[in-house]
Amino acid sequence: MKGDFELLERDGLARICRLETGHGVVETPALLPVINPNRKLLGATEMRRLFGTQMVITNSYIISRTEGLRERAVREGVHGILGYDGPVMTDSGTFQTHVYSDVSVDPAGIVAFQKSIGSDVATVFDVFSEPDFTREKAAEAVATTSARAAKAASAGGGGSLIAATVQGGIYPDLREQAAREISSTGADYFSIGGVVPLMEGHRFGELADVIVASKKGLAPGRPVHLFGAGHPQMLPLAVLLGCDIFDSASYVKYAYDGRMMFPEGSFNLAEIRHSWCTCPVCTSATADELRGMEADERVLNLAKHNLYTLSSEIARIRQAIHDGSLWNLVESRARGDPQLFDAFARVLSHRRYLERFEPLSRKSGIGFVDSLTASRPDASRFAERAGAVRPGSGDKVAIITGERQYFTHFDSTSRAPDEDAASLTPLGIFPLALTETYPLSQSSYSASVRAAEKPGEYAARFGYSAVRTVEGKWRRNGRQQARESSADQARAVCEYQFGPGAARALLAGRMEYARSRNTGKLRGISSEGRQILFFRTEDGLFSLKFHGGEILHGALPPPAMRVVCLPDAVPFVSSGRSLFTRFVAEADDGILPGNECIVVDGNDTLLAVGRALLRREEMLSFGKGVAVDIREGRNSSLSSQQPEGMK
Ligand code: GUN
Ligand code: ZN
Repeated sequence: MKGDFELLERDGLARICRLETGHGVVETPALLPVINPNRKLLGATEMRRLFGTQMVITNSYIISRTEGLRERAVREGVHGILGYDGPVMTDSGTFQTHVYSDVSVDPAGIVAFQKSIGSDVATVFDVFSEPDFTREKAAEAVATTSARAAKAASAGGGGSLIAATVQGGIYPDLREQAAREISSTGADYFSIGGVVPLMEGHRFGELADVIVASKKGLAPGRPVHLFGAGHPQMLPLAVLLGCDIFDSASYVKYAYDGRMMFPEGSFNLAEIRHSWCTCPVCTSATADELRGMEADERVLNLAKHNLYTLSSEIARIRQAIHDGSLWNLVESRARGDPQLFDAFARVLSHRRYLERFEPLSRKSGIGFVDSLTASRPDASRFAERAGAVRPGSGDKVAIITGERQYFTHFDSTSRAPDEDAASLTPLGIFPLALTETYPLSQSSYSASVRAAEKPGEYAARFGYSAVRTVEGKWRRNGRQQARESSADQARAVCEYQFGPGAARALLAGRMEYARSRNTGKLRGISSEGRQILFFRTEDGLFSLKFHGGEILHGALPPPAMRVVCLPDAVPFVSSGRSLFTRFVAEADDGILPGNECIVVDGNDTLLAVGRALLRREEMLSFGKGVAVDIREGRNSSLSSQQPEGMK
């Protein structure tokens, strides 16, 4: 249905989503090339063929002010004048008010015009809030913009989705307030505006602050467009912060200036001696040949090159979301550019907000370069949570040290009976039992990453009476790890993953621990003869079996770990089918995306266990898509006895 927006894959706030428009589906992250209706260099249909462009954006203000064009648009629609049958977004003239001062637009009229020409996404005429606006002026821009958005949204879009813009200059509280206001209007699509001057001035740190403040206030279940962002070097960062859609006029502006875009920034064609680009333009013409072309032909070729760069960067970003490596990409880009590096540091200052969306594990390990990498929200949250888990109930502690200590062999027979074991890793000192858990053994580390805490401090923090450091031995043949007892490993991982109360409840009965015959790694855990947990070797975390869910359900009072399902979905979820967002009534705010949860009905009757794909506010905001991937429902019992059923 038009306007549906569904999350398909995610990596923290970054997401791959599917937006339905009146002219087809757009998969985000997406970049919308700007088409000037008066000066068409490349047509939208050709862009779709060459670059896989899914949606374009054009300007309804220019169309409405151009004699002849306006009449044609009314007759043939915006798709007719662009010769394109795919999704088209229109902007409202706000940007023209930023560039030229004498622009007058009738706010209601321009939205009505966009609807009348069949725009798929019609933009409210917002007030451009410049970065140098005083607070008062920025607040005024927000108030006017929100009022216009409310009017446009309540009138409804007809065939058009209504796009409302977050303004507020560089004032985070105004941005967040503006975002809350437009979220409550019922607009279908959100934009972040007033940021072009930040982009053009390479003020990426302030840009990051503006995006984070806006995201905090925006309802998560709608697309977010960053207006005027067509600079390839900031795309990974903007996607990391949760922007879905971008538009670029710069591909053509740069082409007129003789500039070529690359993922790291732009280069002047005049200075290129050794062209390294392998796009179709650059493999069919040398830099000299490009320079020798007639102006029109050169501009067209440079514009194409720029669109190849932008579309391949978007593809690169999608792949990074898919394999869980977007942070790595953003960090490596940041280390090549001082302004982007500042922005990366600003992003890390928002880690408390970001970590709410960070999964407990990813498909990709982390490449730890230095302490900056270690302050990524996923890494710092691991350090905080794992650092709070006591290795055991012993009175003394042995801390294993040495190069690559987290893979080294530690002979546990040398331990005293009342001695717990911890491991000094580059990220900190943690229970030895957590060394198989993400990200410790899945990642790689440079020698510049060093734990801050000293063994003595660690021992004091947990009240150990004695601490001894043991030099771990690195075994060349294979990654033979120091191994903690099954019970200690189960307790440490449970505490880390579910919290201490859950760990006590899960592991209270008569326990059995199964290990793999091949690898010796922990596999299934049973209590009183029934499987409760399954250990995933890829990330060292547990999957919950139904009986494990029953134990947690009995031990932890609501709302802990619960997603509450609406009556209509009860039979489906109970038989093991996915829980969709539209059937979620409520959810625990502590559930992290990717972590285990239990699903109950309105009377807190346990229906199923599964893996949450979204966090609470996302489950409640998205109108479409899966909220919980159900592993086992109360009625899917027979097949559930088999370990193959585990995910
Ligand atoms: N294009 C670039 N910036 C903006 C903005 O703030 N608002 C609108 N409507 N369009 C833009
Ligand atoms: Zn090229």
